[in-house]
Amino acid sequence: MTGRSWAEPYKIKMVEPLRMTTREHRNRAIVEAGFNTFLLRSDDVYIDLLTDSGTNAMSDRQWAGLMLGDEAYAGSVNFEHLESVVRKYYGFKHIIPTHQGRGAEHILSQICIKPDDSVPGNMYFTTTKFHQELAGARFVDVIIDEAHDPASNHPFKGNVDLCKLERLIESVGAERIPYLSLETNVNMAGGQPCSLENIRATCELCHQHGIRVFLDATRASENCYFIREREPEQEQRSIPEILLEICSYADGCTVSAKKDGIVNIGGFLAVNDDDIAEEARNLCVVYEGLHTYGGLAGRDMEAMAIGITESMDLDHQRARIGQVEYLGNKLAQAGIPIVHPIGGHAVFIDAAAFLPQIPREQFPAQTLVAAIYIDSGIRSMERGSVSAGRDHATGENVQSRLELVRLTLPRRVYTQAHMDVTVESVRAVYEQRDQLVGLRFTYEPQRLRFFQSRFAPIVGTSVFANFAFNDDQTVQQSNLVSRS
Ligand code: F0G
Repeated sequence: MTGRSWAEPYKIKMVEPLRMTTREHRNRAIVEAGFNTFLLRSDDVYIDLLTDSGTNAMSDRQWAGLMLGDEAYAGSVNFEHLESVVRKYYGFKHIIPTHQGRGAEHILSQICIKPDDSVPGNMYFTTTKFHQELAGARFVDVIIDEAHDPASNHPFKGNVDLCKLERLIESVGAERIPYLSLETNVNMAGGQPCSLENIRATCELCHQHGIRVFLDATRASENCYFIREREPEQEQRSIPEILLEICSYADGCTVSAKKDGIVNIGGFLAVNDDDIAEEARNLCVVYEGLHTYGGLAGRDMEAMAIGITESMDLDHQRARIGQVEYLGNKLAQAGIPIVHPIGGHAVFIDAAAFLPQIPREQFPAQTLVAAIYIDSGIRSMERGSVSAGRDHATGENVQSRLELVRLTLPRRVYTQAHMDVTVESVRAVYEQRDQLVGLRFTYEPQRLRFFQSRFAPIVGTSVFANFAFNDDQTVQQSNLVSRS
């Protein structure tokens, strides 16, 4: 089938109307939200590309599964279904459900980390690193250098740099490294995969030194798709075959099922070690709920078990990643600087290259996110210096080399026409980029600041220096609407 187009392997059974707003309305909304798209009301959003987390469309099978919820407090049959599905596809012995990914990260970090430990990882993820630091560890980035270069075309930018890892082991000693945190399809690098070969070599090196490896397998099936596409001798293998092999090298994983798992809520911790599992069950009871529901309703676990099974389907992944590629290629053709190669769950715009006139201290990516929202009502997310936060020890802003805007695609939600409208909006902002002014903090929370921080433009009331409130341009001019 090479050379032929992909199409969605489903048809639409139910629709949710989208709300269109005026530019004036949006300019007011973003001011009220402190120029932070996390603080917008979703009712004020047209196309929501904030995240692929919990925003996916469930299948009719999953909705039917909700009706099979066994809401017994203990020993729900839906837990048994989930446990059997996770064992089948991930291969780990013990499964502890959690309300979402960070619940699993919290439990794992509390069990394994001692104060002053170092936890290496292939780039940080915000909540993962936060929980490691909360437990007393220092996070050490051991991803390959190419991951920090938006223009590098390396096919596996998620790979671990084994030399960096060896240097860390030499300098702190293996006994101060409780585990390596290995993220599949690295989110903050732009949705970039790890190769099977690198995963194998990384796990081997760690195990030689008695260091465990825990995967962040949140987007593991998307990573498997890329391995199949890009790694020699893997193109004939199925996603489940590759996933089982990846997991066979590791000691366990944390998962936010709100992504790959195509559900609105849910996650799990899976491990092979009996002692860690026992302690994890104990902590689960304290922080999440009984170890057979982990903060979830029985019906949520049923939807998760079905969603995980659906995510193993090659046609699903081809269409999912194909849609991200479609958006990325159109943006690149329009001359917009984006991260290459195009990632699995999102297209990342290089805001530093888009807005070279705005210094990092004035948050170019946060500015661009606000400008795209004002232009069209499309909501995206900053992944740059605001997300990087402050150094735990010094209190200084972490210098993030990547200053990105993430256009994240929920699974099975939007159509190709929505992608076209998105490209038009980004192009429109690109044409006005000289008019954009940067932002400053008006409120900065102490933890995971990107979620709740508030900003104001360096001058004026809009990030568009010349914006006048009487502009009535609406998204109704978009070709999506003029076609209907
Ligand atoms: N790990 C990765 C790689 C993630 O992308 C996320 C969440 C988590 C862990 C935490 O999972 O949200 O279920 O607690 N990422 C979302 C995002 C928030 O928008 O990228 P959670």
